[in-house]
Amino acid sequence: MAKKLAVVIRKGGSGKTTTTTNLAAGLSQKGCRVLMVDIDSQANATKGVGLIVENLKYTLNDVFAGRVTSIRDAIAPNSFGLHVLSGHRDLSQTEQGMVGNPDSLWRLKEILAEVENDYDFIVVDTPPNEGMLTYSALLAADRVIIPVAAESFTDDGLAAAMAMIGRVQQRSNPQLAVDGILFTKTDRTQFREVLSDDLTANYSALIYPFDVPRGTHVNHANSLGVPIVLYMPSHPAAVGYSKLVERIRNNG
Ligand SMILES: Nc1ncnc2c1ncn2[C@@H]1O[C@H](COP(=O)(O)OP(=O)(O)O)[C@@H](O)[C@H]1O
Ligand SMILES: [Mg+2]
Repeated sequence: MAKKLAVVIRKGGSGKTTTTTNLAAGLSQKGCRVLMVDIDSQANATKGVGLIVENLKYTLNDVFAGRVTSIRDAIAPNSFGLHVLSGHRDLSQTEQGMVGNPDSLWRLKEILAEVENDYDFIVVDTPPNEGMLTYSALLAADRVIIPVAAESFTDDGLAAAMAMIGRVQQRSNPQLAVDGILFTKTDRTQFREVLSDDLTANYSALIYPFDVPRGTHVNHANSLGVPIVLYMPSHPAAVGYSKLVERIRNNG
């Protein structure tokens, strides 16, 4: 049965999508069977692994809408062996339809349950908000990765994410655990020294002992649809993501 990881924090630009695509691509490159799930209406993770949404017959949104007979019909393989349940701009509309229907929060978990025996890992990219879709990802997941961009150490996105995860654990998914907090877009090796005392005091046990440096090639790789771990494996950001891949693989 697949281990299910959600990459979550409400602040946009934190590196959720880049973390998702690199983790999924890196695990797949190591021979793991990986399904990447894009629940963001921006579909950036889908694009980030080289798929063009308009060319796909079905996306995750069609699964939510009941337009596929089997979920497998909506799973597209990309050029480097990753399986993708793609995002679509209409997911935001689908999310609006979920309001006032608590059962719909469990739909993603049900969808993934149908295919979880086919994979070693399912990695879910989430939208930059704490809406129904993000909540449903936390109901479906075993573990959460929280990326925090180095420029936003003072932002409350991290505290909000921890609070949301706590609510989900208490109410609905007690086995949900934070795998770790990943610092992204770091720009100096000694950045840990300038982390606020609050942050280190509250979360030090959860902060991964590696980070993902900022680099323009990361953005370039994303726009080419090839995650940096594959595009330029020696790049410091790729090295950081490879450490994440190894950690997730070994804890698998
Ligand atoms: N390590 C990095 N170095 C440079 N740019 C990055 C890095 N990680 C992400 N980016 C860029 O920052 C922007 C936001 O990253 P993204 O992964 O889309 O974050 P989120 O999904 O949280 O909004 C994107 O343009 C992405 O290409
Ligand atoms: Mg994103």
